[in-house]
Amino acid sequence: MVGARPQFVKLAPIVKACAGVGVLHQTVHTGQHYEDTMSAVFFDELDIKEPEWNLGVGSGSHGAQTGAMLAGLDALLSLERPDWVVAYGDTNSTVAAALAAVKLRIPVAHLEAGLRSFNRAMPEEHNRVLTDHAADLLLAPTERAASHLAAEGLAERTQVVGDVMIDVLFDVVRKIESEESVLHTCPRPEGDYVLATIHRAENTDDPMRLSALITGLASLPVPVLLPVHPRLRDHVVAMGLSLEVGSLLPVQPFSYFEMVDAVMGSVAVVTDSGGLQKEAFVLGKPITTFRTETEWTETLENGWNVLAPDLEGLDQIVLRDAPALSAETPYGDGHAADAAVQALVGGQS
Ligand code: UD1
Repeated sequence: MVGARPQFVKLAPIVKACAGVGVLHQTVHTGQHYEDTMSAVFFDELDIKEPEWNLGVGSGSHGAQTGAMLAGLDALLSLERPDWVVAYGDTNSTVAAALAAVKLRIPVAHLEAGLRSFNRAMPEEHNRVLTDHAADLLLAPTERAASHLAAEGLAERTQVVGDVMIDVLFDVVRKIESEESVLHTCPRPEGDYVLATIHRAENTDDPMRLSALITGLASLPVPVLLPVHPRLRDHVVAMGLSLEVGSLLPVQPFSYFEMVDAVMGSVAVVTDSGGLQKEAFVLGKPITTFRTETEWTETLENGWNVLAPDLEGLDQIVLRDAPALSAETPYGDGHAADAAVQALVGGQS
């Protein structure tokens, strides 16, 4: 069950790993993300076959959107009754999938279980906690995630499998470096640039906050490449703001290959995305996160990732020197999807 952009990235290696061991995999797309740049391009580029079902739910308030997904999934799962439902990540599509399955007593696995921001104001935090407590199998990306689950009494249902986003990342970096990919077309500035993204509700939905973020990024002394998420685009228009200011270079949302390519070419990354913090960390780029906390706390070690919620001294934080590279790989070795599928198959017998 998928619906939003980061879930398509996590889906790709699971589909591949299922095919590798002869497990039938079928995809339900809730339709949470529906624009081509937010959805279709990921299926094309990551070579995932078209979803068998698309519920076409689209945008709406959290309750209305999640409720529409739940109704659609309930009807579909009642007919199909798969051996497992896999819910990915922490979006509204995730919690809808888990709830629909558990109500029908269909086993449900949560991939990327155990992440916590401990910030109850975040919709993603509600989705994570509810999904973990509903699920039968908790596929944790890291030991730290597993320790959060243990603290909530969920250790028995937990298996650490590594992070499937790293599987995809390694694969795509290899393709970009070997120039196998013809999609290696990220429009990027000449010379040094910072890559930035803004999409979290807590940053886009408050005009004062959004305006401060835009001003902060626009005043950086190097070009700031900014792929614009629809939530950001819509709020900028509604609030009468502009992204065509100072150092900012707004562009259409990137495909996955373009995003990885853009990170590789950057001097630093500034973001509120979870996945991008990790991708930049693995690719050795200093990250500045304009949030009060991160779920991916491993990235904070040695100062690779710095939390800068109040944006003070942003230019010095963003353009700090990169710390020394560490040999540690807290997110796994690029084989997490195989381990996840093994856990599912093993859980069947
Ligand atoms: C969702 C996830 C978030 C994830 C993000 C990745 C939840 C609660 N949030 O946030 O965790 O990091 O996806 O992108 O599930 N829109 C479009 N076209 C689209 C999709 C969205 O225009 O294809 C616009 C709509 O105005 C919509 C808004 O973006 O209201 C927000 O979309 P939504 O799916 O509700 O949440 P995201 O902000 O994308």
